[in-house]
Amino acid sequence: MIELSAALNRVSPSPTVGISQRARIMAAEGRDIIALSAGEPDFDTPDHIKRAGIKAIEAGKTKYTNIDGIPKLKEAVAAKFRRDNSLDVTAKDCFVGSGGKQIIFNALLATLNPGDEVVIPVPYWVSYPDIVRLAGAKPVFAMADASSGFKLLPHNLERVLSVNTKWLILNSPSNPTGAAYSAAELQALGQVLERFPDVHILSDDIYEQLIYGGKVFATLAEVCPNLAHRILTLNGVSKSHAMTGWRIGYCTAPEPILKAMSKLQSHSTTNAVSISQWAAVEALNGPQGFLDEWRQVFQGRRDLVVRGLNVIEGIECLTPDGAFYVFPSIGQLLGKVSASGRKIVSDEDFVITLLEETGVALVHGTAFGLPGHFRLSYATSNTILTRALVRIADFCAGLK
Ligand SMILES: Cc1ncc(COP(=O)(O)O)c(C=O)c1O
Repeated sequence: MIELSAALNRVSPSPTVGISQRARIMAAEGRDIIALSAGEPDFDTPDHIKRAGIKAIEAGKTKYTNIDGIPKLKEAVAAKFRRDNSLDVTAKDCFVGSGGKQIIFNALLATLNPGDEVVIPVPYWVSYPDIVRLAGAKPVFAMADASSGFKLLPHNLERVLSVNTKWLILNSPSNPTGAAYSAAELQALGQVLERFPDVHILSDDIYEQLIYGGKVFATLAEVCPNLAHRILTLNGVSKSHAMTGWRIGYCTAPEPILKAMSKLQSHSTTNAVSISQWAAVEALNGPQGFLDEWRQVFQGRRDLVVRGLNVIEGIECLTPDGAFYVFPSIGQLLGKVSASGRKIVSDEDFVITLLEETGVALVHGTAFGLPGHFRLSYATSNTILTRALVRIADFCAGLK
């Protein structure tokens, strides 16, 4: 049997993919499954964007492109950063990759060495620590639990920064909690970061468009322009424009980082798919009106889910500002026994037993670094969400 690389042995398979797969197998066996475990919008890619992709194929735009993206897309990305985030950038400051995930991969693999540390607020998106480990560096966790609205507080940041810190990763609105930082909260973190001039910041803004209740989106480079020379601002069309399968992510960052990312990408995927890049030009430059409608729909779903969960005894759910996740606590339900006689010792027991007994698939909080919780993705219809809430409520009521 082939011996695996030490780098790969440092990481584990994605737990969110794991539970979704288990749910798929059960569905294939004929079980009635409601999967609220995946992280993608249920909307279809809008027609005008699809048509731009089809037109690109018909026009023969099917060849290799520049490593860092076609000029038209880099211009569209720069215009987006200027328009939405007031960043002072042009196309030469921008970079396109095969999804936000590849951008994070490129940035971290291109800059980390053994001994380097990356500060990651907890709970976190599952891929951050494992990409850091793959790059041979060390994830350092900073608590950002429900007591601070799932946001990193300046003193908790300061406590974990060291001479070894190379990056801080910020994600707002957050996967898995939906928490979004205000401009003032980011500025307070910025004040700490000013005292650590060697720390770079990766601002993962992939859920920027999904923010509710009149809350205004803010990003670190916009509200702390004095830190812009050490910030990578990441975004993409996956979540905003329902384009997860097209695989387009983009960023702006200081020139040495972009150059290093290009060098790395030149030896991996070369460039993001040419057809998808043309579709992304249309996504960024074309009509954006549907985003408001989608936001309204998501906000309605969020309110339905938060209300439905909070009436269940033993579940406590904060109202998130954005994304399409809730991250309630289930601490009071641990130690109980399910209808089938299974003892629920951990959050993982909770989600596995819930899946087996009711067919509802969630992801346990431990996967995101915070036990005693689960993540529910509400990127599905109100009808399905209502059915799932009934099943979760019945399951919890049956715990003894
Ligand atoms: C927080 C966060 N960042 C980045 C990504 C990457 O998205 P993509 O690679 O589809 O652009 C995801 C996807 O789930 C995410 O949740």
